[in-house]
Amino acid sequence: MERLTAAALKQIDSIVEKHVGEPGPVIVMLHEVQNELGYIPFEAMEKISKATGVSAAEVFGVVNFYAQFTTVPKGKHVINVCLGTACYVKGSQALIDEVIKLTGCEVNSTSEDGLFSLDATRCVGACGLAPVAMIDGKVIGSCTPQIINDEIKKLRDLEKDSLRA
Ligand code: FES
Repeated sequence: MERLTAAALKQIDSIVEKHVGEPGPVIVMLHEVQNELGYIPFEAMEKISKATGVSAAEVFGVVNFYAQFTTVPKGKHVINVCLGTACYVKGSQALIDEVIKLTGCEVNSTSEDGLFSLDATRCVGACGLAPVAMIDGKVIGSCTPQIINDEIKKLRDLEKDSLRA
């Protein structure tokens, strides 16, 4: 297992400290850790358990229960494809297939190079734009495999440029 950096551990400590007196602190802390680090490392669950007195098993149970929490680091770029009914009917499976082909990601996992994560989501409330994909939070309506292809190529080019810089 990869060790967390000192900075990440410090960040977790300050999140825990900030919320320890609040009602329902476990869920609040988990949310903030997920937002800040992009996932919930085991160390965070331990610290939350210690600070709140809720058992580590229970904290882990909460993490497992809510789909928005993940215990594995996400890729640098997160691609969500909506598999709600409207999007599915309009072909979102083809979008998923395209992402898998181009990145090697499985659904709800991260590519080996750590660059991309692919998440299948339920209806994101934009059915009029179906099929919908989101790349790093940007909503792409009436999405096609070609658009996915272009977007992933753009991101790969950006990565290459940042390596050269
Ligand atoms: S089904 Fe995809 S946005 Fe509603």
